[in-house]
Amino acid sequence: MKEEISVGLIGFGTVGSGTFRILRDNAELIQSRLGVPVKVRKIAVRHIGRRREIQVPAAVLTDKAEEVVNDPEIDVVVELIGGDEPAKGLILGAIARGKHIVTANKGLLAAHGSEIVSAARRKGVAVGFEASVGGGIPVIKVLKEALAANRILSVYGILNGTSNYILTKMTDEGRSFDDVLVEAQRAGYAEADPTFDVGGIDTAHKLAILVNLAFGLTIEPNAIFTEGITVISPLDIDFGKQFGYRLKLLAIAKQHNGRVEVRVHPTMIPNESPIAKVGGAYNAVQIVGDACGDIMLYGKGAGSMPTGSAVVADIMDISRAILNPGMQPLLAAPSGNLTSQEMDEVASLYYLRFMVVDQPGVLSQISGVLGKNNISIESVIQRGRALGGVVPLVIMTHEAVEKDMRRALAEIRGLSCVLEQPVLIRVE
Ligand SMILES: NC(=O)c1ccc[n+]([C@@H]2O[C@H](COP(=O)([O-])OP(=O)(O)OC[C@H]3O[C@@H](n4cnc5c(N)ncnc54)[C@H](OP(=O)(O)O)[C@@H]3O)[C@@H](O)[C@H]2O)c1
Repeated sequence: MKEEISVGLIGFGTVGSGTFRILRDNAELIQSRLGVPVKVRKIAVRHIGRRREIQVPAAVLTDKAEEVVNDPEIDVVVELIGGDEPAKGLILGAIARGKHIVTANKGLLAAHGSEIVSAARRKGVAVGFEASVGGGIPVIKVLKEALAANRILSVYGILNGTSNYILTKMTDEGRSFDDVLVEAQRAGYAEADPTFDVGGIDTAHKLAILVNLAFGLTIEPNAIFTEGITVISPLDIDFGKQFGYRLKLLAIAKQHNGRVEVRVHPTMIPNESPIAKVGGAYNAVQIVGDACGDIMLYGKGAGSMPTGSAVVADIMDISRAILNPGMQPLLAAPSGNLTSQEMDEVASLYYLRFMVVDQPGVLSQISGVLGKNNISIESVIQRGRALGGVVPLVIMTHEAVEKDMRRALAEIRGLSCVLEQPVLIRVE
């Protein structure tokens, strides 16, 4: 019987230091739950001389990540540096040496998860990645374990705190995207280069991981239809409110008839739905299973301690399996025979805004094109000002198919009464 579990951290930044703090401050509790202590044996960083809030013995720190990978005493290697390389090489190297892995690296998992998990299976080691989606929210464990008896029907997620913070401020204070982004950057809610977050790419990475677990479907993140929030204007948020909707950057995966729709885009959702109420930098995931019905998980989707909490939970799960060799941690994705649905075939309700010349007959021209393309109108808001001026014309449609909508918009864009690029926001 092992007398302790030995951990090596690669990365000692936001998540690495949270992980260390939890292992240190809750050491007694963790030991009482596992029966043996968990010890951090080595920590690899890039800049060894950097001043750090947490002091650790000099012998523990190294600037050579390979020392963690090659240390024969280390049972679990925790990768918290992010990015593709050297993270991937270090993980595969550690697996080859029979070490279990914990990682928070969603980008790497979304792009190379199958390769990493296959290598781990061959070697009989585990890969824990709870921290890669939803920070402190235990969504991976819920999908793998708690909902194991369910056929998953849909997963909806607010998975990026930066975008949700910006949209919440725009909604509550009527401010523009650019204005709120600058404030979010000052407050530390947004990176200096926010493209990954506000462009929906980070959300797509996380959705790729969830889709694999929920539906057994492997999908490349760049094959996921992805739109970000940069083009959202307060005007559309305001019109959405008039229809009883709130705007969120939503990750959506829904299965019907053996196909799974997988998409990320700004979405109008009814005010009264629980996910519409998720504000600020919080994250949430709503899962519908055929047996359990609706489940919603809500919490802090990032940050040092919430993400560290998920990392340490994985370390503890793996420790239990190390201490009880008969017990396998449930870390594999289910196999499945579902395929992804082409975006062109996806059906949705749509919010459309056209900036048009304020003159009689405009609505009938636009509705004519929509009708010709199998799109029927549910309601309209038309604000007239001075005849001949430019006014918004807002239309909510009944359910329509994406390819019909694209064809209709291409035609409407060519009408002389339409003065700007039309705005399209999908509605769930
Ligand atoms: N931040 C969050 O809230 C959050 C939430 C969920 C998931 N994640 C994921 O967690 C991972 C870590 O994110 P983070 O925010 O903690 O990053 P971070 O604060 O930038 O920290 C990165 C750490 O990695 C070290 N590092 C970088 N390259 C290295 C190398 N080649 N060898 C050894 N150490 C190296 C850095 O060393 P120095 O300290 O010497 O620079 C630093 O300690 C990423 O995959 C991220 O996507 C983060």
